[in-house]
Amino acid sequence: SRTLRIALLGAGNVGSQVARLLIENRTELAARAGADLELVGIAVRDVDAKRDVELPRELLTTDADSLIVGADIVIELMGGIEPARSYILKAVESGADVVTGNKALLAAHGSELLEATEQVGAEISYEASVAAAIPILRPLRDSLAGDNIRRVLAIVNGSTNFILDRMDQNGDSMADASQLARELGYLEADPTLDVEGWDAAQKATILARLAFHTSIDTERVYREGITGVTAEQIEAAKSAGYVIKLLAVAERLTAEDGTEGVSARVYPALVPREHPLASVHGGNNAVFVDAEAAGPLMFYGAGAGGLQTASAILGDVVSAARRHVAGGPGLVGSSHAALPLLSIDDVITKY
Ligand code: HSE
Repeated sequence: SRTLRIALLGAGNVGSQVARLLIENRTELAARAGADLELVGIAVRDVDAKRDVELPRELLTTDADSLIVGADIVIELMGGIEPARSYILKAVESGADVVTGNKALLAAHGSELLEATEQVGAEISYEASVAAAIPILRPLRDSLAGDNIRRVLAIVNGSTNFILDRMDQNGDSMADASQLARELGYLEADPTLDVEGWDAAQKATILARLAFHTSIDTERVYREGITGVTAEQIEAAKSAGYVIKLLAVAERLTAEDGTEGVSARVYPALVPREHPLASVHGGNNAVFVDAEAAGPLMFYGAGAGGLQTASAILGDVVSAARRHVAGGPGLVGSSHAALPLLSIDDVITKY
């Protein structure tokens, strides 16, 4: 059978787990993909860096450019905008499919990357970029493609959910809960990305694009973090039968002037205790989708972690490999700006 050359860019928390699973599960993956998946190299900044997972030394290289050329599938797990963006563009230009978990890059340059891949008939897939292991992007894009989604309500930031949950369930102060979240490794290296809602806004952008087939700019997603939430507010919410959750909301709405569009917003919301999202505890994530024909659906599970995120990456790699073997066209359509993004001032919100 055919052999597909897999290049991995980045060997951090997620990358090193992806490398390990590609090597250890090679036989099973080959059977499912219909092709042998050969990890041909892992591009890293420092070959000698200490890693939790031991990786074959001969696969490590600092020369990402050479690795990309000749790869059938490039897995980008470096994070950040550059050089990740240039490497992805180079990969698609050289005919490779790309798998990435880079939410910041997708939020900022998603349309550019999708257009570039579509032009050459390649595909970029990114299930790992939102809610890690939880399969949510493919269901929005494929399984619900025949339905009309009304709204998506999501807990997509595990660290802030952990902090608010500790305050609610254990009576922790925000400072203590944040310290614990840091110790458990839930927070981003720059925690303001979590607590100010940026991480959730990036994920809301990706969810909104897929749910509503439109182009959304993260900078214009209404965003309020959790730094202003007080113990008193949490107690008051509790007495009234609510729990405060940082929600990422994307929904189809009609603005007060009659414009139909999409509202995308991130803010600490009052969630009724009986709503399924209220029972999402700790660092977990959940995405609640309401579609016209399907009704309410909830996707729940671990929203972070090296191994969990690796699961989503490998799923995308197997799908990309199947496409290579079948020689079929890519499955992702580009996002055309069909519905406008509504301003927070123009919509009446109730979550
Ligand atoms: N800092 C992120 C979170 C990690 O708290 O959810 C996963 O994207």
